Amino acid sequence: MVPVDAGDTTARARLGTWPHEPDIAQIVLLDHHMIPTAGHVQRWVELAQRSDPRSIRTGALFPPAAAAFVDAGFEVIDTLALLEITLDDRSARRRPLASTQRMRTSHLPEIVALDRDAFGDGWSNDERALRDITAATPRHRSRVVLRDGHIAGFAISGQSAGSGYLQRLAVRPDARRRGTASALVDDALRWMRRRGAGRALVNTAADNEAAIALYRRLGFVLRPESLAILELAAR
Ligand SMILES: CC(C)(COP(=O)(O)OP(=O)(O)OC[C@H]1O[C@@H](n2cnc3c(N)ncnc32)[C@H](O)[C@@H]1OP(=O)(O)O)[C@@H](O)C(=O)NCCC(=O)NCCS
Repeated sequence: MVPVDAGDTTARARLGTWPHEPDIAQIVLLDHHMIPTAGHVQRWVELAQRSDPRSIRTGALFPPAAAAFVDAGFEVIDTLALLEITLDDRSARRRPLASTQRMRTSHLPEIVALDRDAFGDGWSNDERALRDITAATPRHRSRVVLRDGHIAGFAISGQSAGSGYLQRLAVRPDARRRGTASALVDDALRWMRRRGAGRALVNTAADNEAAIALYRRLGFVLRPESLAILELAAR
C-alpha cells in the first residue's frame, strides 16, 4: 500500500488493492478519527483511478467518515459491529487453555490458507494485506497457537495512543471450540495492558455470531456505532 495525502498532510490514506483482487483499489484512512472533506475523497478517488480499477473500496470507517464517502457516491457493502473492553488487571483470564507463540515468517503461507478458510473468498487477506495490518499501528504483536505441528489459530494485534486493537483473529475450522481464540485474545489483552493501553477495540462482521459471542464472553461490550466498508464502481 502506498501512503498518499489529499493535498494536506492531515488527510492521509494508504492506497492499495483489495486482498486477492488486484483490480479492486482500496483506500484506507491512516487516522481512524479523521473526517474527510468532499475534496479529500475526490482526490483519493482520482489517485486510485490511475490504476484503472474495476471498483474502489474503503477500509472499515466510522460513521462520519463513511458519510463523506456516501456523499461521493460510494455504497455500503459490509457493516461491522464494534466492541470494546476496558483493560484492567482482571480483563485477562488467568489460565488460558492453549499457549501462544511468536508468529514467524515461515508461518505465513499456512496463515494465508487459514485466513481464507476462516473468512472465505472476498473477505480473506493475502500475505501483503497481513503485513499491512501489522504495519498499521506503531506497535504490534502477532501470535499463533500450534497443534500437532500446524497452526490452529493466529491473532494480530496493535497498539496506538493508549488503545489496543485486535486486528485479525482466526482459528482453523477443525480446531474450534477448544479455547484457541480465547487464549489468543487473552494473550493480546495482557500485552496491551502491559504496554499501558486503557482499552481494546475489535470489529467484526455484524452477523458474525461466533465472534461476537466470543468477545462478549471475554468481557467486551458492543459499542452503539457500527463501522462500514464502502465501494464505488469505477468503470
Ligand atoms: C470466532 C472464532 C475465532 C472462535 O474461535 P474458537 O477457538 O472456536 O473460540 P473459543 O474456543 O476460544 O470459544 C470461546 C467461547 O466463544 C463462544 N463461541 C465461540 N464460537 C462460537 C460459535 N460458533 N457459536 C457460539 N458461540 C461461540 C463460546 O462462548 C465459546 O465458549 P464455549 O466453547 O465454552 O461455549 C472462530 O470461529 C473463527 O475463526 N471464525 C472465523 C473467523 C472469525 O470470525 N474471526 C474473528 C472475527 S474478526
